[in-house]
Amino acid sequence: MSNIEEIKKRRTFAIISHPDAGKTTLTEKLLLFGGAIQTAGAVKSNKIKKTATSDFMEIEKQRGISVATSVMTFEYRDLLINILDTPGHKDFAEDTYRTLTAVDSVILVIDCVKGVEEQTERLMEVCRMRNTPVIVFVNKLDREGQNPFELLDELETKLGIRVRPLTWPINMGADFKGVYSLFEQKLYFFKINKTKIESNVVEIDLGDDRLEELVGLKDAVQLAEDVELVEGVYDEFSKEAYEKGELAPVFFGSAINNFGIKELLDTFCEISPLPQPRPTDVREVEPTESKFSGFIFKIHANLDPRHRDRIAFLRICSGKFERRTFYHHVRLNKDVRFASPFTFMASDKSVMDEGFPGDVVGLYDTGNFKIGDTLTEGENLNFAGIPSFSPEIFKELINLDPMKSKQLEKGIQQLTDEGVAQLFNLDLGNRKVVGTVGELQFDVIQYRLEHEYGAKCRWVPMNVTRACWLTADEKSAMDEFIRLKGNQIAFDKDRNPVFFAESDWMIRMNRENNPKIHFHFTSEFKTEVAL
Ligand code: G4P
Repeated sequence: MSNIEEIKKRRTFAIISHPDAGKTTLTEKLLLFGGAIQTAGAVKSNKIKKTATSDFMEIEKQRGISVATSVMTFEYRDLLINILDTPGHKDFAEDTYRTLTAVDSVILVIDCVKGVEEQTERLMEVCRMRNTPVIVFVNKLDREGQNPFELLDELETKLGIRVRPLTWPINMGADFKGVYSLFEQKLYFFKINKTKIESNVVEIDLGDDRLEELVGLKDAVQLAEDVELVEGVYDEFSKEAYEKGELAPVFFGSAINNFGIKELLDTFCEISPLPQPRPTDVREVEPTESKFSGFIFKIHANLDPRHRDRIAFLRICSGKFERRTFYHHVRLNKDVRFASPFTFMASDKSVMDEGFPGDVVGLYDTGNFKIGDTLTEGENLNFAGIPSFSPEIFKELINLDPMKSKQLEKGIQQLTDEGVAQLFNLDLGNRKVVGTVGELQFDVIQYRLEHEYGAKCRWVPMNVTRACWLTADEKSAMDEFIRLKGNQIAFDKDRNPVFFAESDWMIRMNRENNPKIHFHFTSEFKTEVAL
């Protein structure tokens, strides 16, 4: 098969949701459809239990298991589908953001009872930054949820994206009767069915007399009214608008009952984008280019003391990746090759001899990689768009054993390269500050510094709630600002200046007083803060 045919076969996406909306259940059902697993429950057992919030070792152990489910590959309708798993735990939100840089589209799961929740909004922000195409799956229709029109309004206002329902529910909760496909004009009947994959489908026109027999007069009338309203209010579905990330098609269903999944998957296969071009600091890289390129979007450390190796996850962006071939590690300016790269086919790790754009390769790493690293066939370019986001919790790292300064330095550099947390430097007094999105990471870092690097530390909380990356119209303006703000200015690992703010109010004030300085919530500098 030619490279182009291989590319056309591939669909690489992530399922995202607020915890508990049904991401794991949906993933599992998609794998069942694809024949990648035979029994329900196979994915579930690997997920991070939401109850174990205080026990980070337990969570890390489960994260260890979840390497196997980091990428799930299956074949369906001649396509090779890669689902990239994203951690459900809020404290690992940064992992999720980075995984989103490696996909070509996402499916967003919403709980019809709870609607748009906090984490859904933040994840969508990341999708919007990159114009990632989104399909929405409204789950748990077997429960009494919000009115579908209100839900759609909420999606539009809170997520900042236009929506277009492609199916429409007939009732909800105990009275849930199924969905009507606006696309195919078919009625899908709901049957409680947790194990088998089948749907009860009737092809029917809305004016057909059988409709009343099937769902009852009241629901038949309601459905006709709803559909008329939908067609009147929402624009026609446009694949082009979806591909640009401007319009999200919406499906309704119940993942646990296998309901609405097939329609979702079939539509996904029809509309979802194939591996897309990706920006670099030099030029855009097309997947069809003959030379190989890719980047590392995730590094997974092994906490088992007997196996210290890490696994780096590489997304292939162009050309063909081959085992035992030398590739150029751009940041280190050296050539590296891999004896046993692996793939995740059939939820098992197996050696990968060759891979194509859209594929994710697992690489054993002894410390050569950090998040965002690029591999090429020689060209000096770096894939862009792997931003750091402002952490929410900041603590100063205090060395408890001056004899182990070197170990501490090495440890914290390596752990932050892995993306466990972000490291900042306050030049005054050469103080190190670690920023995270969750308390859990501080325990993880402290534990790992001690057990892997033999260094002991403690944390001193800081009165900082946001870090803003700074840019300036003129260098002199930046120099002056840095001089004036002293201890409120830190530097990230790439020596970019960052403003440490106690509150949003403080950012607003500083922005007003310093019009030549620009404040950004991500290290990508594209969008300025909107406060
Ligand atoms: P997550 O990965 O997004 O965190 O969600 P997950 O799939 O684990 O689903 C969260 C809970 O919602 C699970 O219940 C799951 O069974 C349930 N669920 C998923 N889809 C549906 C649905 O369509 N209808 C209903 N009523 N429930 C659904 P749990 O009690 O947390 O776990 P379990 O005891 O069922 O394993």
